Amino acid sequence: MSKKIVIALDGFSSCGKSTTARHVAAVLHYAFVDSGAMYRAVALYFHRNDISLLDLNQVANALKEIEITFVFNPAKQSSDTYLNGENVENEIRMMFISDMVSQVSALPIVRHAMVALQQKMGEKKGIVMDGRDIGTVVFPKAELKIFMTAEPHIRAQRRKLELLQKGEDLPLEEIVENLRKRDEIDSNRSEGPLKRAVDAIDLDTSFRSMDEQVEFVLEHVRRVQGEIK
Ligand code: DC
Repeated sequence: MSKKIVIALDGFSSCGKSTTARHVAAVLHYAFVDSGAMYRAVALYFHRNDISLLDLNQVANALKEIEITFVFNPAKQSSDTYLNGENVENEIRMMFISDMVSQVSALPIVRHAMVALQQKMGEKKGIVMDGRDIGTVVFPKAELKIFMTAEPHIRAQRRKLELLQKGEDLPLEEIVENLRKRDEIDSNRSEGPLKRAVDAIDLDTSFRSMDEQVEFVLEHVRRVQGEIK
């Protein structure tokens, strides 16, 4: 049997990271963790409980009250995100969360809590995790790191379609602006900024189908596994 590895998929918003990661994990029978969903669930909790991002005591206490889990949904053949036992998968994808999540995830105290959880999830390897700092901070020793990019207008179109499928019909300009702002905050924060790991492999998804993206990653998995003694 092939040795289990850790696969880190990082990159900008809406490059298809989570979908690629989910498919790769399914083929390999690995666990899949969408780390962005964890930051989104924290943002939702802060929103519901009126937590001020300026009051770090309040933020620290709130973090103690948050439990995030992923539960497999057989109907969708993918995992849903649960916040303190409630399925919040749909709500965390809505625009009001996208509008606040980068500010929430820029707080070092929030990142420390999430990174610790993510590292625990990867202890036994056999995991595909997507995010912004997975190859640099969460799993700097991951056997395979992929850095995904795509042209901004293509990313915005994809996000528009995704939101439409969830019942939110927003103007393209609003989506472009949200992606631009998030990329800027995610890339410039002091703690765990979005950054290509030096040993990452680039994958531009602009003109690739999902099948091609998945096959690209799987080819590298096979290569890495062949190299492991
Ligand atoms: O992948 P996503 O768009 O659902 O992520 C939502 C936000 O969470 C994103 O704007 C930045 C933040 N994030 C992060 O800071 N670190 C990660 N590892 C994953 C996401």
